[in-house]
Amino acid sequence: MSGRCNPATGVVLLGVIALSGLAACERQPDPSADGGLLGSPGDWPSFGRTAGEQHYSPLDQIDRDTVERLSVAWYHDLAPGNTVTAPVAAGGKLFVTTGHSRVRAFEAATGELLWEHDSGTRERAGFILRFGYGPKGLAYWNDRVFIATHDGHVVALDADSGEPLWEQTTTEPKDGRYVNGPPRVFDGKVLIGHGGADSGPVRGYLDAFDALTGDRLWRFYTVPGNPADGFESEAMEKAAATWSGEWWRLGGGGTVWNAISYDPELDYLFLGTGNGYPYNHLLRSAGEGDNLFLCAIVAVEADTGAYVWHYQTNPAEQTDYNAAMDMTLATLVIEGRQRRVLMQAPKNGFFYVIDRVSGELISAEPHARVTWATHVDPETGRPVEAPGYRYHGRGLFELWPSVTGAHSWLPQSFSPRTGLVYIPAIERASTIGDEGLDLSSPDAGAGVVGDFNLEIEGARRSFLRAWDPVRQTERWSVELPGDWPAGTMATAGDLVFQGRLDGKFVAYDASSGEAVWTHDVGVPIIAPPISFAVDGTQYVTVLTGAGASGSGLFAPASDGYRVDYRMPRRVLTFALDGAATLPASPPPPPMVAPDDPGYVPDAALEAQGAQQFAVAACFVCHGQNAANSGAAPDLRLSPYPTDRDAFHAVVREGALLSRGMPRFDELSIEQTEAIRQYVRARARELGADGASAR
Ligand code: HEC
Repeated sequence: MSGRCNPATGVVLLGVIALSGLAACERQPDPSADGGLLGSPGDWPSFGRTAGEQHYSPLDQIDRDTVERLSVAWYHDLAPGNTVTAPVAAGGKLFVTTGHSRVRAFEAATGELLWEHDSGTRERAGFILRFGYGPKGLAYWNDRVFIATHDGHVVALDADSGEPLWEQTTTEPKDGRYVNGPPRVFDGKVLIGHGGADSGPVRGYLDAFDALTGDRLWRFYTVPGNPADGFESEAMEKAAATWSGEWWRLGGGGTVWNAISYDPELDYLFLGTGNGYPYNHLLRSAGEGDNLFLCAIVAVEADTGAYVWHYQTNPAEQTDYNAAMDMTLATLVIEGRQRRVLMQAPKNGFFYVIDRVSGELISAEPHARVTWATHVDPETGRPVEAPGYRYHGRGLFELWPSVTGAHSWLPQSFSPRTGLVYIPAIERASTIGDEGLDLSSPDAGAGVVGDFNLEIEGARRSFLRAWDPVRQTERWSVELPGDWPAGTMATAGDLVFQGRLDGKFVAYDASSGEAVWTHDVGVPIIAPPISFAVDGTQYVTVLTGAGASGSGLFAPASDGYRVDYRMPRRVLTFALDGAATLPASPPPPPMVAPDDPGYVPDAALEAQGAQQFAVAACFVCHGQNAANSGAAPDLRLSPYPTDRDAFHAVVREGALLSRGMPRFDELSIEQTEAIRQYVRARARELGADGASAR
């Protein structure tokens, strides 16, 4: 189906009018049809529910009046491993992926487990396993469930049995790419990108597979390769004119690691692209050119993958900013005109409203503190950069938002009823620069130095912001605990649902921001919620537990919250008058290191170990300074470092591989001993009373 004449247009978002196919085809584009239909109003078959990724449910049984009766209908306990994922629901079933793509299907109304599928990623992925946990969601289409594993396997499962129907790969083993965004199925195509451009030379692309057969239909590269090899398309040839030096040797970056949306009437797919690799523009492109299509929103034809238009949020990107955040489609009345818009709050702190037919910028205003630009020029659509932002050889620049962004992959939501966008917003700051680095050295890496999570006034905060995209102003905002806000969902019951690091799951009045319902689960909720209906009952489902891909990087954010690896992780489903009772949660383990009589301080060995801990990227899962974030056990509390053989068996020989601990067989015995020394020293810093000295 091309989607140009989508028979179901208008049904989902209005939620009430059932149109016949023909009638819909004859209609003018309906303003509420943005992003088109994917199933019935009671389904949530895709990451953002519709192709327009509004994260909005047209169900309204749970509203401001009834929400006080909302309680747990059923729950299912989950093993440790990534529970920061969004489920999908369709046809009375709920599908959940956790860990490294372990899929479970439930009877959505009762929680009865129907089938399970383990993708086998842990045993197969090799060094890709080191990059965290992988995909944040899955997709449903036509009685099939689609997953894309961390190591690039794209799999269609039978929704009734869980049996694989076809399997493809989107990445090559050892190519440094790993999948971490949810696959989308739009227009009968499975669409999948990947990440990897933060840690090595990766050239980004998006693959489209036929959802029925698994055939690969097309691949859209986001940055040009070596001109000597010829260009894949005219778009790549034009893009190459915006690069300099020998960028292809360094990969370029521009990965589509998170968001994709789709307009069925235009038949355009929208891709959000990531940062450049290396980050430093001098190193990547000899300091010249805009470097298309880095840090950009690109529209391509769904049938062919051919380029249509692009809008670049950060020309010549060099601070790990990227435009890979959700692209919400809606119809807004702006200055008296109906505009079919795409709205994005990328990392860089501005909120962009773009005409999705033409790619023209309508408006861009900061929703968070911004120091890198004074404003976006409405004539040219380009940011006007602040002095000092081009940091080359000038010392460190104080960058707001930080390199982790004012908004990350945690989805925003949009309510067509209030006209507001609900942004999980982050206020963080970094320093960044390249002073003292030898950019000509092969060890220059990303080509930047700095402190990426500054502890200064106003930083390390987070908010739920209700943003008026027409006036480009904040309507209301709520400060949240910590600086890593959860994904959001808006509903036709005029509620906004969002979890919090302190364990509370909250429903806010969508118009005023007043918290109208709170349920305390005792462990962080980062995952975005969904809502669906079965037999006339509306349900809300969310997964509990912290610790997703790379969440060790964000360990400081979870400081003070419950993030022990074996915290209760669950699928939690709520309904009005739900009658389930959650068992009491076991308390977190005391922050006390095990006895370690053989420990002898050795500052030199410990310093070597600190370096190895960083180089081998143990911190990606085990946390900065070995302080845990929920993605892996807290090594300071672990008995393994006190036992030489056991430690080596786990780290170098992969004894816990099948549970998600990668094998580091390149580490020498000496290097592993240095890491062991470092971890034991961190453990000694824990106070005897159990208080953390971090
Ligand atoms: C991609 C994430 C990831 C990375 C990177 C990683 N680990 Fe782990 N590690 C885990 C997980 C998950 C477990 C827990 C497995 C289980 O459930 O038993 C674990 C367990 C361990 C354990 C056993 C702890 C215990 O008490 O059970 C040790 C020791 C360990 N890791 C050391 C390291 C070292 C040293 C590095 C760096 C060289 C490292 N890990 C890198 C994910 C990771």
